Amino acid sequence: MLHCKPLHPLFAAEVVGVDLRQVHEPAALAAIRHAMDRYAVLVFRNQPFSDDEQVAFATRFDGRLHAQTSLSALGANRFGNEALTDISSVRANGELAELADRRRLSILSNRLWHTDASFVDPAGRYSLLSGRVVPEVRADTEFADMRSAWDALDEADKQRFQSLRVFHSIVHSRQTIGFDFSPEEAARLPGAVHPLVRTIPASGRRSLYLASHASHIIDWPIPEGRLQLLDLIEHATQPQFVYRHIWQPNDLVIWDNRATMHRGRPFDDTRYRRELRRTTTLDIGT
Ligand SMILES: [Fe+2]
Repeated sequence: MLHCKPLHPLFAAEVVGVDLRQVHEPAALAAIRHAMDRYAVLVFRNQPFSDDEQVAFATRFDGRLHAQTSLSALGANRFGNEALTDISSVRANGELAELADRRRLSILSNRLWHTDASFVDPAGRYSLLSGRVVPEVRADTEFADMRSAWDALDEADKQRFQSLRVFHSIVHSRQTIGFDFSPEEAARLPGAVHPLVRTIPASGRRSLYLASHASHIIDWPIPEGRLQLLDLIEHATQPQFVYRHIWQPNDLVIWDNRATMHRGRPFDDTRYRRELRRTTTLDIGT
């Protein structure tokens, strides 16, 4: 039985008294997935994962890991494992990244509201983000509950949106902030089509599936679809749908990418060291 302390009226909880490195039993892993279906974001404090332990836990939690990341398109990461995404303010040599460093500029786009790996098929399911080095200044991550955002739409809008499909491209989302992939890099990131409205199988709840990567609505004129997506993102990220996570060292935060969006908040990353490691599972099976 997990002990969950709610962190927000609608979603997000802290789980206390669990060392995830020791969680191997199928029933215990299923209990965490069950809590994910309720809360969509779970915070575990004091989880001092090594890289190998994090990859191992993510794999036994939910199977296959996402490795076709945007950062992998920029070249190999410093861990030699693209399933371990390096969301850090440092370069491969461990020094702070400079202002114009391309990996840094690509990571900056995490400040746009998004859901991980919506630009591949199968898309991302759970992300597990480990806070290895946390700066002394605030560098929060915000989450929005896309199930509550769906629930709050009126019936006419629900009817209008429920069958729509959306093209997701990380090349598009990077372009919106003026970051361009080379043609060779972009060829590794072709994008994917997903429904605008998803049903989370275990809970049966419906969710708006949005992201900065959402480029346009299939079969709609591009400007009209893009404006509709911007309107929906504005709706879904109203304060009542948002939980703000304040990082402590060795936090492990797990979120359901089918049910939430998230964004990083700004901090002076050219001055303060921050090292996060992300593993994201793929939405395969139930
Ligand atoms: Fe992300």
